[in-house]
Amino acid sequence: MNAVGRLHHLEDLEPSTEEFRQSVVAGLSTRQKTLPCKFFYDVEGSRLFDQICDLPEYYPTRTECGILEDKAGEIAAALGPQARIVELGSGAGIKIRLLLAALDRPAAYVPVDISREHMVAAATDLSRTFPDLRITPVCADYTKPFALPAVPGITPRVTSGFFPGSTIGNLTPTEAVSFLGRMRRLLGPDSAMVIGVDMPKERSVLEAAYDDAAGVTAAFNLNLLHRINRELGADFEIAGFAHRAYWNEEQSRIEMHLVSLARQTVRVGDRQFAFDADETIHTENSYKYSIEDFRALAVRAGYRPDEVWTDRQALFSVHLLRATEPA
Ligand code: TRP
Repeated sequence: MNAVGRLHHLEDLEPSTEEFRQSVVAGLSTRQKTLPCKFFYDVEGSRLFDQICDLPEYYPTRTECGILEDKAGEIAAALGPQARIVELGSGAGIKIRLLLAALDRPAAYVPVDISREHMVAAATDLSRTFPDLRITPVCADYTKPFALPAVPGITPRVTSGFFPGSTIGNLTPTEAVSFLGRMRRLLGPDSAMVIGVDMPKERSVLEAAYDDAAGVTAAFNLNLLHRINRELGADFEIAGFAHRAYWNEEQSRIEMHLVSLARQTVRVGDRQFAFDADETIHTENSYKYSIEDFRALAVRAGYRPDEVWTDRQALFSVHLLRATEPA
């Protein structure tokens, strides 16, 4: 058996080193330096991310899993039998189990993730729990166009996107609207979308979630520099940078940065980048939406907001969206 094992097919569009190099050079060339967050997820980054999800301060994962555990039956009933589920950024594949276990004879599961090895391992594992399920993974950057794999002999009654983890919050609201619009067109006119969205709350709770006491989130953020050194032959001195995360209330987002602790120069291949002391690389945003704000955003993307589920403390929300006729 090859690496794909019992999976039916693997579509491989993992970004190339050259694409990584170009993105890094472009991001470090702007006045506010940035690095695209999708490159967090190499093997080490994916491992650290899974650790973040288990941290005591990081409430989103366990809160969303709690909602899915409680409401999987309602979500499954709303989607109906023989659904095809397309999961965007499937990662370790824990949440999908809660949904699949509740669904009535799911037709197919299509995990889409940028981190190939991590995804194949998770999908292979899943195939042991759900031996009759058609699993057709796609290794792709889902912010770029990709096609759904055809599964001969299978006709799903409905196709639903599954986008947990408040990953939608890692896009700007404008990007989120265009991303959801693209997913609606990819998944089809009668499709649905089940999407997890983190909500605004007290600053101390938010900031602790993105700057934990054990330093795992810091290691996750700094791993991006290790990865650039490893894969692009750069010479970032990791000890010269620190993790910083804060709640930007005006924009309703957590910002993650890497702060240069001194004036320094970094080489990436044949390019040099100068840093002032205290200058930052903006590595990620995590936007938080109230239920009403997120429903309004979904409407702009061509969706009709249907049901929404939250936990008792209203920390996190899971929305069901229905595609409306394309305008
Ligand atoms: N999308 C989630 C969030 O914004 C998870 C996540 C993405 C994350 N990147 C992160 C969490 C970096 C901590 C640090 O919360």
